[in-house]
Amino acid sequence: MSTNAVDKILQGQPALVTGANSGIGRAVAIGLAQAGADVVVNYISHPEAADEVVAQIRAGGGRALAIKADVSREDEVEAMFERAIAEFGTLHITVCNAGLQRDAPFHSMTLEQWQTVISVNLTGQFLCARAAVREYLRRGVVDGVSLAAGKVIHMSSVHEVIPWAGHANYAASKGGVMLLMKSLAQEVAPARIRVNAIAPGAIRTPINTAAWSTPAAYDDLMKLVPYRRIGEPEDIARAAVWLASDASDYVTGTSLFVDGGMTLFPGFASGG
Ligand code: BGC
Repeated sequence: MSTNAVDKILQGQPALVTGANSGIGRAVAIGLAQAGADVVVNYISHPEAADEVVAQIRAGGGRALAIKADVSREDEVEAMFERAIAEFGTLHITVCNAGLQRDAPFHSMTLEQWQTVISVNLTGQFLCARAAVREYLRRGVVDGVSLAAGKVIHMSSVHEVIPWAGHANYAASKGGVMLLMKSLAQEVAPARIRVNAIAPGAIRTPINTAAWSTPAAYDDLMKLVPYRRIGEPEDIARAAVWLASDASDYVTGTSLFVDGGMTLFPGFASGG
């Protein structure tokens, strides 16, 4: 991504990215900063990884701050937003990204595996989007900064529409994120708040190492990807910058699939 001053389309728009110390969240935090946003780098574990993201943003001339918070805990989310707003004055962009998997065959899935995934992936996105919307409603549109009063970007997945055996908790959480996003978008559009989701396919991150780290696994994965390459975190970062910017001002309530065609029923390319 270019860092030319002319590309600083998010200048003056502080952003908060959850789960920003690794994978997609890390790339999104860095991408938003390159586009001129001050960025809160949320994390729950591995503070040194969050510090590294902050250092990288600062080295590029941006402002960044790491804040630890468990997105599934109301008190921690509230404290994080309070601190972010105190440090940066306000927030214009919130990327509800933190997510995890606890895979298991359905018949042996524990209640804990179910609840952990729903708490982080769905309740966590609710709590962060609610805190963001409260700040956007309080502040309203700021002329010259953005056409919108604020933007929420939910990190969904192709599994908001693709059923996934062995991952019922994860697919249920992402299906939930999709209708959370659309319902919220409908509710706050009159206040000029835009709410969208990114639905990534297979992206090279720690969450799915087993799916791409050996040649055999990668070949297998490519059967599901018509574009025949794995996605890189930067593919998602570019989509996030666009959804956060006024370039997408008329876009709300949509899931932007960034998946190399994974949702195109690749099995039908030669069947059906
Ligand atoms: C999951 C990955 C998976 C990808 C495509 C993502 O949402 O977290 O584990 O590789 O979807 O199936």
